[in-house]
This record gives sequence, C-alpha cells and structure tokens, in this order.
Amino acid sequence: MCEMSDSEDDGVPQLSSHALAALQEFYAEQRQHADPAGDDKYNIGVIEENWQLSQFWYDQETARRLAEEAGAAAGEGGRIACVSAPSVYQKLRELQGEAASSVYIFEYDTRFAVYGEEFIFYDYHNPMDLPKKIAAHSFDIVIADPPYLSEECLRKTSETIKYLTRGKILLCTGAVMEEVAAKLLGVKMCKFIPKHTRTLANEFRCYVNYESGLDREL
Ligand SMILES: C[S@@+](CC[C@H](N)C(=O)[O-])C[C@H]1O[C@@H](n2cnc3c(N)ncnc32)[C@H](O)[C@@H]1O
Repeated sequence: MCEMSDSEDDGVPQLSSHALAALQEFYAEQRQHADPAGDDKYNIGVIEENWQLSQFWYDQETARRLAEEAGAAAGEGGRIACVSAPSVYQKLRELQGEAASSVYIFEYDTRFAVYGEEFIFYDYHNPMDLPKKIAAHSFDIVIADPPYLSEECLRKTSETIKYLTRGKILLCTGAVMEEVAAKLLGVKMCKFIPKHTRTLANEFRCYVNYESGLDREL
C-alpha cells in the first residue's frame, strides 16, 4: 500500500529506501518492453510511477471516465489542458488519436517530453511561468491533479488553472481538500470516486464548477 502526502515535507510514501528501490526495479522489469516512443506510447504506465514526484496513476477505468468527461465538457474540437494529470492526457490521445482535439500536458516530469509540442514543462512553484504560446483563457476545460495535499500546492496550482481556463475546471485531489478547493476555485465535490492502480491511504475525489456527468452516479 502506498500513501499520498499531506504536506511536501512528509510527501513520500512510507517505505524504506530498500523497499522502494526493490519495488521500482520490479516495475521497471515488468515494463522493460514498453517503449515510450513506440506504438504503445500513450499506454498509462509506459512511463512508470516515480513516487518521489508523488506520481500515482489512475486505473484504466478512471482515466477513461475522466478523459471522456473532459472531451464532452470541451466539446468537439475543444481545447483541453491536463495539469499534473498525465494519465488523462494519455487516455485522451489513446481514445481520440492525434488529429482530434487540442490537448496539452502540463508536467514537471520531463520524461513526458516524449509527447513533443503538446508537452509543456510546468512547476507549480512558478505557476505563471508558462511559454508565450499558452494564451490566457485558451482552454475549454482544465483538468488538474496537484502533486501534494497542501493548501500552498493547491493555491499555486489554482493560479495556473484560473489563467488557463475559459471557465470549466475539473480538479482531482484528496477529500481533505474540499473546503480549500471550494474557496480557491469554486468547485464542488462529485459523486464519482477516482481510483488508482494502487491503494492510496488518502481518500480521493473529483471536484467541478460546472454541470458534470461525474456527479450523476456513485
Ligand atoms: C498525484 S499525481 C497525479 C497523477 C494522476 N493521478 C494521473 O494518473 O495522471 C501528481 C502529478 O504531479 C506531478 N508533479 C510532481 N511535482 C510537480 C511540480 N513541482 N509541479 C507540477 N507537477 C508536479 C507528478 O509528476 C504527477 O504527474
């Protein structure tokens, strides 16, 4: 079992360095045939989780659900920003192909630069440090999953979200962030519960500021 952090200071899983190294090696061996530049480059997990970067990938069903939701909310040909949510970017590309909507992946982990022009290096510590080609309010929906469950991280990521969006916001973060998320972004918790490939200690939820399909079922 792995644990998501409540703050940056204790933000790594509670495993010994030996256990962590052994598990990372195990995953690396399992994925040794996956080629991030090959045909399967949009498979979730082709870029393996690095827990030091608070990376916890959604399971297939959750990634599909969030990608479908983002696609529907953006509308045909709409623009979608995935901020610290690489699995949703990958699932959108897997489902839609490269000719479909305009989708960008804002990520700190430069391994995702394999996605070329659609990769935008992003560090929430510098929330407005974005390339010139990224215009204000140029995305129909922003989906974000900040790396840490801290008010500071959500506040800074929220600056980026508000800069990017034309209005719609889909945030995934811990249930403990409900009040802060409402205050910063005006989002409300949905019924849909996101799931990860591994069990996390913290309860995760989705939040939106628009009428969403994610709120129609448990
Ligand atoms: C909790 S994970 C969310 C991933 C999501 N569950 C998924 O499957 O796509 C947090 C994400 O934040 C990214 N991240 C780590 N440090 C960051 C930083 N300083 N600024 C922005 N993003 C960062 C990680 O690489 C990771 O993709």
